[in-house]
Amino acid sequence: MSTGTLNQIIVCSAAELSPGRRKVVTLDNNVIVIVNSDGKLYGFQSRCPHQGAPLEFGSISGAMKDSEPHQYEYGCHNQVVRCPLHGWGFDMETGQSLFSSKVKIKTYEIKEVNDSIVLYVTRKPTKVSVTDLPVGCS
Ligand code: FES
Repeated sequence: MSTGTLNQIIVCSAAELSPGRRKVVTLDNNVIVIVNSDGKLYGFQSRCPHQGAPLEFGSISGAMKDSEPHQYEYGCHNQVVRCPLHGWGFDMETGQSLFSSKVKIKTYEIKEVNDSIVLYVTRKPTKVSVTDLPVGCS
């Protein structure tokens, strides 16, 4: 994705988002989850498309890949967030749900730039807030 025409939001210092940590960024009424999973940065919408639970409280793991009968292959290690309410899983890179090509969450470009974590969004927000998750959620 090109980031040339997008608005840059400084989320925090890179040191504040070490591997395993999460932040919640609210841009006006748009809530976005920022995750550092194994050193890779992900950004995605907080609201689960099923019944609206906050995905920032979901567990992060991998998932079994599509395979032939009686073949079991694990993949996407620590790249899947599971909704804390009913367990729907989403690939944090693509936003794609694990069970249906028709269900997807919105993802955002996140980069580390000059020791800061930067979120890229299309619309410039009027109000920005950044929240740390409680201990035990990272
Ligand atoms: S609210 Fe997320 S799976 Fe039901």
